[in-house]
Amino acid sequence: MIRDNKPLMAEIDRIAEVAGYLWEKGWAERNGGNISVNITRLLTAEELSMTPLTTDIALEEPVEALNGQVFYVTGTGKRMRYVAKAPFCHGALIGITAGGTSYHILAEKPIAPTSELPSHLLMHNYLRTSGRQTNVVLHTHPTDLIGLTHCTPYLDSEKLTRLLWSMIPECRIVVPGGIGIVPYEIPGTLALAHATIKQLSRNDVVFWEKHGVLAVGEDIIDCFDAIDTLSKSAQIYFSARAAGYEPEGMTNRQLDDLAEAFRL
Ligand code: 13P
Ligand code: ZN
Repeated sequence: MIRDNKPLMAEIDRIAEVAGYLWEKGWAERNGGNISVNITRLLTAEELSMTPLTTDIALEEPVEALNGQVFYVTGTGKRMRYVAKAPFCHGALIGITAGGTSYHILAEKPIAPTSELPSHLLMHNYLRTSGRQTNVVLHTHPTDLIGLTHCTPYLDSEKLTRLLWSMIPECRIVVPGGIGIVPYEIPGTLALAHATIKQLSRNDVVFWEKHGVLAVGEDIIDCFDAIDTLSKSAQIYFSARAAGYEPEGMTNRQLDDLAEAFRL
């Protein structure tokens, strides 16, 4: 019984905790957002060879580096506020099979994975191939960050990174790699997945124009914190603008001093 595995259940609890934050933050309207976490390292050999609940389901594009890996993935159409309460009723464990060309559902219920599975798997595959320790892909719909992507001058990765960093010192520290921006693509498509992985060579956080944000990392709480800190910066910026002035922002010198002080 998968629920007897304490390290696994501790990780599932952390996923549920973050799902609750996404809802509380107002970033998860209806089924907005999705989560995938590589949990292979937490499973026993016996659990890794459990009988699947489904036959193999073909993937549109192979993810060779993920062969044999197991992920917790939220279900398509599922609501974060319910993932928070019952993660195994609104998501499932899936295993990548057949050299990375397909997957099957392992536990606990045959819940179809998120429509963004192509992006999640291509991201995990790219990061694993690059030797990066990233177990988590977190996608959500933060109102303020999406708002910024509705304004053409901000659709410039360097400019928007600089703007958000300069609102509060923590942003420079918590999101040292800055953000990447992917021009609008239809949700759930391979085109979106391909455009996203291009951004990962430089960034751990990617904005999808007029749609949402993704963070990748080793730990789901850290992924949430990165997006939360960027959201705080956006709120400072919008508050100042709403009060009728352009915020000064920290100077380049102040940002450079921070990078030096925190060895970023
Ligand atoms: P899913 O319900 O399929 O995960 O879709 C939600 C979403 O945010 C799509 O980008
Ligand atoms: Zn989305």
